[in-house]
Amino acid sequence: MGNPVPRTKNIMSQPTYQSVVLAQRPKDHIIPGETFAKKTNPMVSEKDLKDGEILVETLYLSLDPAMRGWLNDRRSYVPPVQIGETMRGIAIGRVLASKATAKYPVGSYVTAYAGWTELAIIDSSNPNLNLVHVPSNGKITDALGVVGPTGLTAYFGMLEVGQVKAGDFVVVSGAAGATGSVACQIAKLKGATVLGIAGSDEKVKWLKELGCDDALNYKDANFAANFKASTKDLIDVFFDNVGGDVLELALSRAKAHSRFVMCGAISQYNSSQPQGPKNFSMVIAMRIK
Ligand SMILES: NC(=O)c1ccc[n+]([C@@H]2O[C@H](COP(=O)([O-])OP(=O)(O)OC[C@H]3O[C@@H](n4cnc5c(N)ncnc54)[C@H](OP(=O)(O)O)[C@@H]3O)[C@@H](O)[C@H]2O)c1
Repeated sequence: MGNPVPRTKNIMSQPTYQSVVLAQRPKDHIIPGETFAKKTNPMVSEKDLKDGEILVETLYLSLDPAMRGWLNDRRSYVPPVQIGETMRGIAIGRVLASKATAKYPVGSYVTAYAGWTELAIIDSSNPNLNLVHVPSNGKITDALGVVGPTGLTAYFGMLEVGQVKAGDFVVVSGAAGATGSVACQIAKLKGATVLGIAGSDEKVKWLKELGCDDALNYKDANFAANFKASTKDLIDVFFDNVGGDVLELALSRAKAHSRFVMCGAISQYNSSQPQGPKNFSMVIAMRIK
């Protein structure tokens, strides 16, 4: 199972444990020391468990761009985190006590929306609770990455939404990130030609090592011209993690009947006035799905 981090302290011997709660909704950027606050909680133990519940010690937290959206008091695919509530977050944890021993014995590792907390009590019927299964050549943290939520997003986004096939010309934005890098690799495995977009020359180099046919740095002064040159044959599949100007450019280079996978729009998450594409009518003109 790779590299589970052994705890240096026995958390259960402490009188309290720590969590992080939402203190204030950010209007744009998160403000260190204001948006979140630390909370000290009385210790919990096996005697606090009801039948079917487990006590989990958080070992790793996944910190994802998607979390920024959960801080907005707005209708979305999950309800907003409430003020004073433990910050929502997916984690890898170790089961310290269990009243669901058949499925979650003490000492097993799980992924769950435990939140930003050292300890969490979780009902074993929770659909987001899973035992960690890592391939033999993997490591435990892969359960939050390539075989976890971001890997699955890339898998279903590229294959089911993008319907990628051999010979397609695919562009991936946010290509060096957790989701984007898996999306690029899946498209390559399916026989597509892949252009990755990322924010540094180092990432551009890494994307080529990963197997991308080409990669561009969107922070280059000549990016728009480079993008046009690299997409002269027009785009079959655009897997978008970024939105904003990159989406605008991709729409201008969409092939008829292309598929745009609207995975994320990270360039807009901290903006109080998010930018929509001006050339949205390309969706109609090019019959983009
Ligand atoms: N729809 C879903 O179910 C789903 C699930 C998971 C993730 N997502 C979305 O996928 C995207 C990537 O998430 P992830 O978890 O893979 O994140 P990640 O590994 O943290 O990658 C995020 C990367 O985005 C790039 N970025 C940040 N600000 C940017 C900006 N203003 N313009 C362009 N690029 C910017 C940065 O790379 P650079 O150095 O290249 O700028 C950053 O490293 C996010 O939009 C997220 O919301 C969606």
